[in-house]
Amino acid sequence: MYICLCHAVTESDIHHAVAQGACTLRDLRSDLKVATQCGRCATCARTCLNQALAEIAGDQEIAA
Ligand code: FES
Repeated sequence: MYICLCHAVTESDIHHAVAQGACTLRDLRSDLKVATQCGRCATCARTCLNQALAEIAGDQEIAA
C-alpha cells in the first residue's frame, strides 16, 4: 500500500527503512523523502513507522 503518493513510498519501503535503522519520522524524511512535499502522508507514515518499530521490538524479544 502506498503511504506517500508524492514520492511513491510504500508501507514495505518504510518497514525496510526501519529494518535498516530508521526510528523517527525525521529519519524517514531523510531516507525516503516521506512528508517532504504536500505533507498529507505524515500521520499515516508515523503510524506505519510505529507499527514497524513494534514489529522489530517484538522480533528482538522473541530472539532474546
Ligand atoms: S503524500 Fe507524502 S509528501 Fe505528499
